Amino acid sequence: MCSIIGYFGKENAAPIIVKGLKRMEYRGYDSVGVATESDHQIKLRKGIGKVNEVNSKIQLDILPGKVGIGHTRWATHGKVTDVNAHPHSSNSGRIAIVHNGIIENFEELKKQLKNEGYDFKSDTDSEIIANLIQKYYEKTQDIKETILKTVAKIKGHYAFVAMFENGQLAAARFHEPLIIGVGQNEFFLSSDVLGFIEYTDNVIYMENGNFVILDRDKFQIMGFDGKQAKYEIVKVSKEFCDAYKGDYAHFTLKEIYEQHETVLKAGERTLEAIEKTVQCIKQAKNIYITGSGTSYNAVLVAKQMLSRYTRIKAEPIIASEIQFIPHSIEENSIMIAISQSGESADVLEVVKIAKLAKCKTIAIVNLLTSSLARESDIVIGMNCGPEIGVAATKSFTTQLVIIYKIIQKLSDNIVDIDFAKISKLISEILKNPTKIQRIANEIKDISDIYILGRGMHYPIAIEAALKLKELTYIHAEGIPGGELKHGPLALMDSNVFVIIINPNDSTYSDMLTSAREIKVRGAKIIGISDIESDIYDFWVELPKSDEIAYPISEIIPIQLLAYYAALAKNTDPDYPRNLAKSVTVK
Ligand code: G6P
Repeated sequence: MCSIIGYFGKENAAPIIVKGLKRMEYRGYDSVGVATESDHQIKLRKGIGKVNEVNSKIQLDILPGKVGIGHTRWATHGKVTDVNAHPHSSNSGRIAIVHNGIIENFEELKKQLKNEGYDFKSDTDSEIIANLIQKYYEKTQDIKETILKTVAKIKGHYAFVAMFENGQLAAARFHEPLIIGVGQNEFFLSSDVLGFIEYTDNVIYMENGNFVILDRDKFQIMGFDGKQAKYEIVKVSKEFCDAYKGDYAHFTLKEIYEQHETVLKAGERTLEAIEKTVQCIKQAKNIYITGSGTSYNAVLVAKQMLSRYTRIKAEPIIASEIQFIPHSIEENSIMIAISQSGESADVLEVVKIAKLAKCKTIAIVNLLTSSLARESDIVIGMNCGPEIGVAATKSFTTQLVIIYKIIQKLSDNIVDIDFAKISKLISEILKNPTKIQRIANEIKDISDIYILGRGMHYPIAIEAALKLKELTYIHAEGIPGGELKHGPLALMDSNVFVIIINPNDSTYSDMLTSAREIKVRGAKIIGISDIESDIYDFWVELPKSDEIAYPISEIIPIQLLAYYAALAKNTDPDYPRNLAKSVTVK
């Protein structure tokens, strides 16, 4: 999960590439590099850090030439070092590549290439692509033959762009995204349309197992069998271009504050797909729901809500666990996959397995051009706009609203949900963050925090813990309130903070009992509730709401708390260390 980009055209490549990389930094941001071709020579600069930092140190954007490639890295093979950053050049220096994904047989290939006299500078799996290309190009002097031989050798999931000293570009896709932007006398290759959307909205989504060769004003797309491949140029929506922070200090804050609007727009453009989903659920033998990270926490809410409000049973599947639970998917069932990016490799794997089992696949997804959207039978668009902050915020509440809409329809509107009221609740919570900022300062130096919730608030406790981990690096754990006495109580002392998610519903009095048990052990309590209590050391007031709206409203103050605690700790809330927004490796 890195981003790759290539440019071939009439303008200087480097500034365009740097801008595109900045937009795609969500995919990985531990190091960055650019290579360009000018006068039949490849120039390359790279270093560790984010795009702007590295660019201001070593001026990536002044490299000369109208052809170039670039990369932002999320390390998988080899530490975060300048040498391991991409692009990687081949031994001759005549070829440079950028790669996203994993080459599974790289050790074996590296050994073979070493025996043939090739040297390796980095610890990456990617460098073998550069040297394999050099090897085959020296033999054949033919780019098509070279790429065919290279892809026949490498195993794994990948997308790469190779730049040749003569200024030609070639790129291949195998289970990692690769998109061609077709402009006026210029072409872009990119992991995401965000890499080039301000220059062209004409795109080709390359099919899996295809490669492209760009040469002057033409391009040729072929399959790994060497035959011409079919393709379609489609227009993409420019709304995803709108990825600016505006007046907000960070994308994460902007995205938290957008939620009063995004809950109103959720699923708005694909209401028919929601209707179809409802029909499928009614007829399904089994219902599986899958996701990763925050989207998996939305899966947990969906399971609880479906059972509580419609008595429909659904089985949650942690996407990354699918390979260890064989025979878990029965034939002719339905698989609902929830994913913001639609590119999480684990989720795509579950969908692949579900399709093999002849299940109907339904995607709840934000990026309608993603692999998940393209591979699913029914697509519900989340419609929450670009989410750039690595920690998911507005996408989570949007996913919940879509789940609610499905439940509302399943119950023939007996479950009555007032989305306008939910939007107002969110606005109210966001109105005055001063108290939350104060609490953020209190927790900034602690090492452990626990979040307790019961019933439908338990998945929210897990999501809250994830937000706190991602943004503050504090160890955080979501616990079902009733489980306190079965272990976690042993951890409670005066060094510990506990967040109690305690709205005024059927879980309220049991949660208050848990809070008391914690209090007498000296832990500090942050109560998130619409009822004040002197048990809480800090009370975060939740506006009164209908029972069904609580899960959405109660996560908002915790998102804010995680954000402000990140600021208090001086960590970057948009780009937490070691993480990436779109995890396209398994
Ligand atoms: C990564 C991101 C998380 C996200 C998860 C699933 O881990 O850092 O924020 O929840 O992927 O992503 P998806 O795009 O499938 O929802």
